Amino acid sequence: MIRLEHLVKKFGPRTAVDDISFDVEKGTVLGFLGPNGAGKTTTIRMIAGYLQPTEGSITVNGVDVVNHPTAAQKHIGYMPENTPLYDDMTVWSFLTFIAEVRGYTGAARRQRVDEVIEACMLRPVRHQPIDTLSKGYRQRTCFAQALLHNPSILLLDEPTEGLDPNQKKVVRDMISDMAKDKIIMLSTHVLEEVEAICSRVMIISEGRIKADSTPRALRKRSSLYNTLTIEVLAPADKAVAAFQAIQDVKEVVRLSGDEQKQTLRLYPRDHQPLAVSAIDVAHRNKWMVTDLRSDQGRLDDVFRQVTTTDDVIRKSA
Ligand SMILES: Nc1ncnc2c1ncn2[C@@H]1O[C@H](COP(=O)(O)OP(=O)(O)O)[C@@H](O)[C@H]1O
Ligand SMILES: [Mg+2]
Repeated sequence: MIRLEHLVKKFGPRTAVDDISFDVEKGTVLGFLGPNGAGKTTTIRMIAGYLQPTEGSITVNGVDVVNHPTAAQKHIGYMPENTPLYDDMTVWSFLTFIAEVRGYTGAARRQRVDEVIEACMLRPVRHQPIDTLSKGYRQRTCFAQALLHNPSILLLDEPTEGLDPNQKKVVRDMISDMAKDKIIMLSTHVLEEVEAICSRVMIISEGRIKADSTPRALRKRSSLYNTLTIEVLAPADKAVAAFQAIQDVKEVVRLSGDEQKQTLRLYPRDHQPLAVSAIDVAHRNKWMVTDLRSDQGRLDDVFRQVTTTDDVIRKSA
């Protein structure tokens, strides 16, 4: 497990990480989400043992990272933001070299390199020099490097940055497949990534934790959660009045429309679902419903809310 206690990092007068504390348990895929400059990379580098905190402590599986970085790094696989790769080496020779650095020799080394080549789907390019690889294969070579010593903790700094949608999917699937018996912590500013693979999400802004929750619970904080958008053949004023009269409707907003057709957004009271009662109202008025959508809430909405205000969202909230 990872434990951070009152972690602070200052660069001169600038505070990049401002008193962060949290625990992460096995089986968690933690998405570290935040705008550029929020302090994601700085935090990850400190956990990885490559940067000294100004204050605070970090332990991984009980090992103190600050005082015993080498011992801690045996538990950690780290994929930096811009991985330095040895461009003129082939994938196979690079990974063999890393395996050697990690203490593997002989048959065990060959076997381990084969395993990560398999796991990261690098077989077709294993004898290719790294500088001739596509971005997707390059990224997976970095990933393989981080996996070599089979660490129980993986720290991935923007693992899908710069990949096309297909390549992103491959990397995300690999991360999900590995999640069960590891801790995976990844930074991203891509909201859909968090939705796709993370079981826990932390929003960080200006070096502080602004939200710590599940993607689903966080989406429910969106002002659009369980709003109903209905397109109905009806006159505007009558439709607005009729839907407004539904008990669970807090507010009706007319999004667009003309004399015959209206698109309305119905905001619920207390997150109550509105579809059934809205259809019933339309039916009783003999208005045809041409479209109906219930909104699941949007992370970008919540992201904006917590990174631009003083709100803090905790799991219990
Ligand atoms: N080596 C450094 N020297 C000075 N300032 C730094 C250094 N590394 C990061 N910073 C500053 O710390 C803040 C957080 O940066 P970073 O952790 O890279 O953010 P993120 O990864 O969330 O984009 C930024 O303001 C950045 O300019
Ligand atoms: Mg970064």
